[in-house]
Amino acid sequence: MSKELSEKTQKVLKRIRKRFKVGFSPLKIQDLELDILQVTDLEHLLDGKDPFEDVTAFPFWVKLWEASLVLAHVMASMPAQGNQKLLELGAGMAAPGLVAAARGYGVTLSDYEPHILDFQRVSAAANGFDDVEFRMIDWLKPPEMPKFDRIIGAEILFREEFFAPLLAIFDNYLQDDGEIYLAHDVRRKSVPTFLDLAQKEFKVAVSKTTMQNEEGDKITILINRLTKK
Ligand SMILES: C[S@@+](CC[C@H](N)C(=O)[O-])C[C@H]1O[C@@H](n2cnc3c(N)ncnc32)[C@H](O)[C@@H]1O
Repeated sequence: MSKELSEKTQKVLKRIRKRFKVGFSPLKIQDLELDILQVTDLEHLLDGKDPFEDVTAFPFWVKLWEASLVLAHVMASMPAQGNQKLLELGAGMAAPGLVAAARGYGVTLSDYEPHILDFQRVSAAANGFDDVEFRMIDWLKPPEMPKFDRIIGAEILFREEFFAPLLAIFDNYLQDDGEIYLAHDVRRKSVPTFLDLAQKEFKVAVSKTTMQNEEGDKITILINRLTKK
């Protein structure tokens, strides 16, 4: 871990340790070397449930998805211009948002369960990002928020029921001249359906990156940039 944790952050880590076995994993994105707090024994967390039998049993927030690593690279190549504010939705372990903080954005990390925000708090503190903010944002019950210059999200389009709420969030939370960056594995069948809907209100640009996952398989990540029409 790069920074000594304050007493306040140590309390948060203690709260996490009551429920999860955790450790810091190094993450290198371009010139940046970050430490990310992660769960170290998924079996314990799954508690006998088999995610291959019931996909809802898998705690999606727990994994740093490949798309989030690609989005982290995108953010590393896109430093903030002045005082830009950025929101990461469904951030989970929050690699892209933490990289954005390193690149000078005023970052808000979000997710919809308190313990996920605790992980984000500890990772932000461990890397010395003391100005990062944390918000519970449930897409199905979104709170009032100030507007952001950038909104980012990796692997957030996994259920159709989220499409209309997420579009409303994009519309309400994004500055008129703001930009949204989304990253998804091309195998996610739901993404084209979402983009068809999004095209009514947003201009959508597409690029692709191929990478190797931990198992050594080649996977392709789709990156979409959305701007208001
Ligand atoms: C597939 S994970 C992706 C996590 C992270 N963005 C990544 O790519 O590593 C989906 C994320 O969406 C969050 N999520 C699921 N349902 C949500 C909801 N209704 N509101 C907000 N976030 C939600 C989960 O907690 C999880 O962190």
